[in-house]
Amino acid sequence: MPAIPELNAPLTDGRVSLRLSAERDIPEILIAYQDDPELHLRMGIEKPPSGAQLGRRAEEASGGRAAGTHVTFTIVEPASDVCRGQIDVHNTDWEHQRAELGIWLAPQVRGRGWAPAALTLACRWLFEACGFERLEVLTEPDNEPMIRTARRAGFVEEGILRGYLRERGTRVDTTIMSLLPGDIRS
Ligand SMILES: CC(C)(COP(=O)(O)OP(=O)(O)OC[C@H]1O[C@@H](n2cnc3c(N)ncnc32)[C@H](O)[C@@H]1OP(=O)(O)O)[C@@H](O)C(=O)NCCC(=O)NCCS
Repeated sequence: MPAIPELNAPLTDGRVSLRLSAERDIPEILIAYQDDPELHLRMGIEKPPSGAQLGRRAEEASGGRAAGTHVTFTIVEPASDVCRGQIDVHNTDWEHQRAELGIWLAPQVRGRGWAPAALTLACRWLFEACGFERLEVLTEPDNEPMIRTARRAGFVEEGILRGYLRERGTRVDTTIMSLLPGDIRS
């Protein structure tokens, strides 16, 4: 599998910036999960991550990039290094040159239009620097902020995958959206 390249400089559009995730983001991530008690449900995990789990994830990050399986961007303000959210790139399929993205923002910085901007920065880099040709967002059909964020970034809704995921002991429907290089917004 090809490696996901190093990010030599932050990606930015002047409003938000993306850098690679780092161990120093852990306190802000823990606070975000505390401040939004539903965040873990939206991210499809049983319970909020612990500091130890986040530490292990940070240790595994460069290996995931080298293996081409996984990369996590941290969303920051251009003049700051403080983690305000993250974009997780996973389910990479190099044979078909596609990957899946998930995004969250700390509740305090939602409603500013950062999410579509951050998604656009990440997607452009995944197309141009990594060679992906199709990017996907999968979310619950009632997650209006996510669906509208993805739409704003150029993603197109393709439909509902019925009973696609098993979460909280039951099968759940999932909206699938995709972005092809020609869909990307400037
Ligand atoms: C999804 C998320 C990143 C979007 O960030 P945000 O700051 O709320 O979004 P923005 O304010 O930039 O708005 C983006 C779009 O969502 C819409 N939106 C935002 N909050 C909304 C709400 N509560 N209800 C309906 N629409 C909403 C905005 O109107 C905008 O759409 P428009 O451009 O068509 O007007 C953020 O809500 C979040 O972190 N949610 C929890 C984690 C999550 O659900 N992640 C997705 C997992 S698949």
